[in-house]
Amino acid sequence: MNKIKNSNYILLFALLAFTACQNSSNMNNTSDSTATDSSANTSLIPSAKNFQTTINGKQTNLYVLKNGNMQVAVTNYGARVVSIVVPDKNGNPTDVAVGYDGVQPYTQGGDTYFGAVVGRYGNRIAKGRFKLDGIEYMLATNNGPNSLHGGNIGFSRVVWDAQQPNDSTVVLTYLSKNMEEGYPGNLTAKVTYTVLSNDKLKIDYEATTDKPTVLNLTNHTYFNLNGQGSGTILNHSVMINADKFTPVDSTLIPTGKLESVKGSPFDFTTPQTIGSRANDSANQQIKFGHGYDHNFVLNTNGDINSKAAEVTGDQSGIVMDVYTTQPGLQFYIGNFMDGSHTLKGGKKDDYRTAFCMETQHYPDSPNQPNFPSTVLKPGQQYQSATIYQFSVK
Ligand code: GAL
Repeated sequence: MNKIKNSNYILLFALLAFTACQNSSNMNNTSDSTATDSSANTSLIPSAKNFQTTINGKQTNLYVLKNGNMQVAVTNYGARVVSIVVPDKNGNPTDVAVGYDGVQPYTQGGDTYFGAVVGRYGNRIAKGRFKLDGIEYMLATNNGPNSLHGGNIGFSRVVWDAQQPNDSTVVLTYLSKNMEEGYPGNLTAKVTYTVLSNDKLKIDYEATTDKPTVLNLTNHTYFNLNGQGSGTILNHSVMINADKFTPVDSTLIPTGKLESVKGSPFDFTTPQTIGSRANDSANQQIKFGHGYDHNFVLNTNGDINSKAAEVTGDQSGIVMDVYTTQPGLQFYIGNFMDGSHTLKGGKKDDYRTAFCMETQHYPDSPNQPNFPSTVLKPGQQYQSATIYQFSVK
């Protein structure tokens, strides 16, 4: 009798355990960002075959980098970060980078620079002109009167050569020929993405040239720390370690001044939500930028161990710390996003649903003698590094 009772209890217990498992796996299926099993984690990364094609005679692909809980997908089309998957405060894998499900949409329409390495000169050059050693160079004016992000094609719409030496690294190289997009010198650029332990994505940039040129390489990933396509970033909290920024004219070219952030909407020295001052119409700089679209003068002195910025997703608890050797950081809050692009998983790139933290030299440096120089000469080795580190609060 007792034996029968015991085995009934065992059966009942087994049934309850089975039902609990079923419920949790159903929950995991309701939303990709709440998936917890490793196959669901993999499914947040687009299928590599959607990236396998030939563009201008060169093979494109998707490279998936892994280390611990973090996965990063990179395509060699534009050296773009396609996905960054990290755990949220509940341990659920969350894709915090804006991107597409395949290579084709990256090649179509106006370039949004989603995830791209931009160059040869990231950010703007006034009137698409600069002088170097007495010679004037003319670039494409693809942004009002100015040149933006390397011109019509730049580095974001070319196929880079790629090598994946191990599970956590991809090395991308690109030869930008003399006078390509109007820039002098054959420039060899090398970008290495590495996923380090403790959920860090490190980006190393290197370059050499055979003639004097100007160079400003950065990465243009759009982040939403609550998950790509999950809605506004205006409630994210941001700290930027910068006492000054470079104010701009109405075409977003720096005036040349370094202005104190004190008492202005540009003071992020203590954490502030993005939205608290992003529409401050009394501030002319906010008006010119249509919100934040400005270069901050970092206090970090090129020290990669000193924190440049920290952002927290209000819903996910995901924190992103930014470290860099670069002197500046362009903080852009998706003011030109308009919902016209279909992102991974059918999500839309709605207005201000992502932000960029482009670590770089200051905009228009080739025409601004008081800004740190962006000239690269033959025999010199260009080197810079940036780390995006993820954790939870
Ligand atoms: C940013 C730039 C913005 C906008 C954006 C791309 O780097 O500062 O003004 O052009 O890229 O839409």
